[in-house]
Amino acid sequence: MPATVIVGAQWGDEGKGKITDLLAQNSDLVCRYQGGPNAGHTIIRANERYALHQIPSGILYPGKGCVIGAGCVVDPEQLVAEIDELEARGISTSALALSGNAHLIMPWHVALDSASELRLGRLQIGTTRRGIGPAYADKAARLGIRVQDVLDEKILRQKIAVALGEKNLVLERVHGMSPIELGPLASRMVELAERLRPYISDTSLLVDRALRDGKRVLLEGAQGTLLDLDHGTYPFVTSSSPIAGAAATGIGIGPTRIDEVLGIAKAYVTRVGEGPFPTEIEGADQVRMRELGGEYGTTTGRGRRCGWLDLVALRFAVRVNGITSLALTKLDVLSSIEALPVCVAYQLPDGTETTEFPAHQSDFHHARPVYETLAGWLEPLGPDPFPARAREYVEYIERAIEVEVSLVGTGAERDRVLSRHPLAALPRVA
Ligand code: IMP
Repeated sequence: MPATVIVGAQWGDEGKGKITDLLAQNSDLVCRYQGGPNAGHTIIRANERYALHQIPSGILYPGKGCVIGAGCVVDPEQLVAEIDELEARGISTSALALSGNAHLIMPWHVALDSASELRLGRLQIGTTRRGIGPAYADKAARLGIRVQDVLDEKILRQKIAVALGEKNLVLERVHGMSPIELGPLASRMVELAERLRPYISDTSLLVDRALRDGKRVLLEGAQGTLLDLDHGTYPFVTSSSPIAGAAATGIGIGPTRIDEVLGIAKAYVTRVGEGPFPTEIEGADQVRMRELGGEYGTTTGRGRRCGWLDLVALRFAVRVNGITSLALTKLDVLSSIEALPVCVAYQLPDGTETTEFPAHQSDFHHARPVYETLAGWLEPLGPDPFPARAREYVEYIERAIEVEVSLVGTGAERDRVLSRHPLAALPRVA
């Protein structure tokens, strides 16, 4: 289908990068619509490992267009480093297009992100400390510096001077930190501006033209549904909207242009940072799951919290994103586990049970998972044969969420993603 949104259906880290990478083969344009360097995709290609943070994974294919849309926040220092690393490894970045309307993450955003987490102490959100929240806050407050501001040195210097005047007051007087010096920062930004200049373009127009020309466009969300600023587990969320509807605003196309929404969910659940997590596994079993799944962050290296599959939350993700099919990743991680609990309902503090995601935060914070336990398959997950119990696990999920599982991840390598309908030329499960 011409425009497909790829959206995380849990708390991020569902394996979106790998699925995007796979579908990028059959696409013309791959676009990021929100988030910034808080995201991280690890792609393994021909035994080479690529860790991408801001650039869509389509960049690894020669000739594919890649867009960083208006809804993103961009750390210029990090973006240039990412570009340089790719170029040094022989990967051209000439097809990268950066929206002039995207906002820049400035050094004060990074400093304030850490400072505010420290201040919050045990109430902290557990952010990636990449300056995401402060950058989106300045965008909403109309104090932000946009990518297009770097195109005119005079405007750039002026905006930095105005913003820094205020931010240094906060850094010094509220947080007792050293101020950021204007001179060196402005000079460095002017250098970075020259590096960014060739990539800056009208990405809304570019995507619109691609769609009019019948090209296939992937719109890739970062983070996941439950980290959505409006619909996630606020305040333990990111500061943008990862859900599928945001693809239209983040890129600058109408919602009617979106044809498919592919949700990505792990066969279990992970969460990084603080916040409620009803199906979190206790004790040694959590450690075992973390090791089995290699659950450590690409961006921060933090160990991820691990839990059993939560079908209440997954049904919620289907609802708020309009998911049309699901990719279930890392099913192989469950291969050595004898009994597999899946959460089918929550028990609320008043003793009632619900299969709908609670609308009120207190209900969610105190929700206790109601499990059904499925039998594990206890054998390797090959495409041929695909173990009957693994198939039952997948079909159980399909019935619960009333959405087809179109892709199943069964291992780290690219060819271990199996297709259950002809979405792409992949080995088939059935
Ligand atoms: P921030 O996006 O850095 O402000 O972090 C806010 C919350 O989102 C924290 O709980 C982070 O751990 C989480 N988060 C942000 N980016 C990702 C991601 O790519 N994967 C998983 N969690 C993330």
